[in-house]
Amino acid sequence: MAEAVCGTAAPLRVIAVASGKGGVGKTNVTANLAVALARRGLRVCVLDADLGLANLDVVLGLTPAKSLLHVLRGEARLADVVVEGPAGIRVVPAASGFAELTRLEASQQLALLAEMETLEHELDVLLLDVGAGISSNVLWFASAAAETLVLLTPEPTALTDAYALVKLLATRHGRTDFQVLVNMAASAVDADAAYRRLARVAERFLGVRVEYAGWVPFDDAVPRAVRCQQPVLLSAPGTPASLAIGRLATRVAGRPAGLPSGGTQFFFRRLLADAAVEGRA
Ligand SMILES: Nc1ncnc2c1ncn2[C@@H]1O[C@H](COP(=O)(O)OP(=O)(O)OP(=O)(O)O)[C@@H](O)[C@H]1O
Ligand SMILES: [Mg+2]
Repeated sequence: MAEAVCGTAAPLRVIAVASGKGGVGKTNVTANLAVALARRGLRVCVLDADLGLANLDVVLGLTPAKSLLHVLRGEARLADVVVEGPAGIRVVPAASGFAELTRLEASQQLALLAEMETLEHELDVLLLDVGAGISSNVLWFASAAAETLVLLTPEPTALTDAYALVKLLATRHGRTDFQVLVNMAASAVDADAAYRRLARVAERFLGVRVEYAGWVPFDDAVPRAVRCQQPVLLSAPGTPASLAIGRLATRVAGRPAGLPSGGTQFFFRRLLADAAVEGRA
């Protein structure tokens, strides 16, 4: 708790956790990063942006009655679906098995942004657990966040898919800064090599800066924690994965927000304006 900067007037940081390839650990890293940041005294919310295949609630052992589905159908406000998770984090659950969520309409994006804006003054950090792939939802959520944490594993397929995601965010959405976390690595050397491969191609072919956010080792404690539906950081705090996520949280908390000029408010508003234009087109 003590390392915290709590309740300051700092603007809300919105960080999307994305990957391209599925199954690289986005949901687990997001959930545990949220817990680690909350334990540093930050007011944290995690939004399950993997609409249609949501499982953040499962990883956190929650059984929410309502979800983003209700918000998107206009049946509930965002504040009504937020539930409290471990370590006092707030969680916005989504629904699984609803094809209608797999491609948000412009009007739904608009409504969701307006709802997200209502949380702005209650939070320090909003983490988005973005789905795998490069669907319109993925690109929209990733571009709605001012910061993008791209996850990959040392497998070449994860590198290819992470590059595809970075490419689309850079070329279509003008993003130039990315943070990269290598998950499930066997060693620091393996992780560093994976990061360097991505950084090299991203810089050379896209001219974007890809910064190293660190690595999380492959650790059996993570799937064990998933089976118990508890964040590994709480169920097995001393394990290598938990310690690595703790280091990631320290880095994230200590990093300048990297917001576009005008702060989050401006950022949401610009997106609202973009969505309105697209909706009319
Ligand atoms: N550091 C790790 N060490 C070992 N296993 C891990 C680690 N991180 C994640 N896993 C395991 O990898 C699997 C996928 O994790 P997770 O669901 O977080 O990935 P994801 O990227 O969110 O997947 P999806 O793309 O389907 O949303 C889970 O079984 C989880 O237990
Ligand atoms: Mg996931």
